[in-house]
Amino acid sequence: RMVTKKSHLIGVLVPDISNPFFAQLFLGIQDVLHAQGYVALLYNMEDDEQRESSSVADLIRRGVDGLIIASSAFSNQSIYAALQREKLPMLVMDQKNETDLVDAVQTDNFDGGRQVGLHLKKFGHRKVAVVLPENPTVNVRKRYEGLASIYGDDILRVTGALSVTGGQQAVKKIINSDVTAIFAINDLIAFGLYMGLKEAEKEIPADYSVVGYDDIDACKYVTPALTTIAQPTFELGQEAATMLLKRLSEPGREPEVKMLPVKLVQRFSVAPLK
Ligand code: RIB
Repeated sequence: RMVTKKSHLIGVLVPDISNPFFAQLFLGIQDVLHAQGYVALLYNMEDDEQRESSSVADLIRRGVDGLIIASSAFSNQSIYAALQREKLPMLVMDQKNETDLVDAVQTDNFDGGRQVGLHLKKFGHRKVAVVLPENPTVNVRKRYEGLASIYGDDILRVTGALSVTGGQQAVKKIINSDVTAIFAINDLIAFGLYMGLKEAEKEIPADYSVVGYDDIDACKYVTPALTTIAQPTFELGQEAATMLLKRLSEPGREPEVKMLPVKLVQRFSVAPLK
């Protein structure tokens, strides 16, 4: 690879572009890159290890100037290899956790989970279910830990993928328990809970309070409108691109980690415990 010649291409790796969260994130990234004359190449990684190695090879072949990695499928091993062999500047975020070697921008996931816990406590809920993947990435696990900092052992942990189906499938276990509130670790899971609870003839928030995470647009349009933790998703994308461009112009700097705040957006899916 010719390191002296710039391609003005940046590879962006996300785990699931069908999730509006990642579309919004990409728009933020593109907003900054485009203004600076760069083109973003979007790679959807899913959880596919095979796709990972072929994507890395492909990106390097195309001579990208840098990478923004939001997908955990991109392993640390690949990061080290690309850093050593290609000296490829990169930034990690979201599902890809920090290493000491590269820049990172994250949101305060622990605080997000904690805010959910405080909110549900305030409404009198004593037992909460949390729906999250079986092997959660670090960002998602921190949300769980934030909730646990408020609820301790009074949490029913239910496994579900970060998707509508994941939420829908979690319902059976929840309605056979004594919880009164549910923390969906992302909004898609919350929408799946809406579907599953409706099938089970349960009402939100009369029978179950539900809180999501992300604040994708659809939260406003579902009934009841979903109370959720808002990530500054577009700004997060902008920040990621800004940091990577800074790295391109000053390659020698120490790696930097930035953290953006999140906030609870109160709508109509949480009610006081009867
Ligand atoms: O909705 C997708 C989820 O996965 C988001 O919460 C985002 O932070 C990512 O990790």
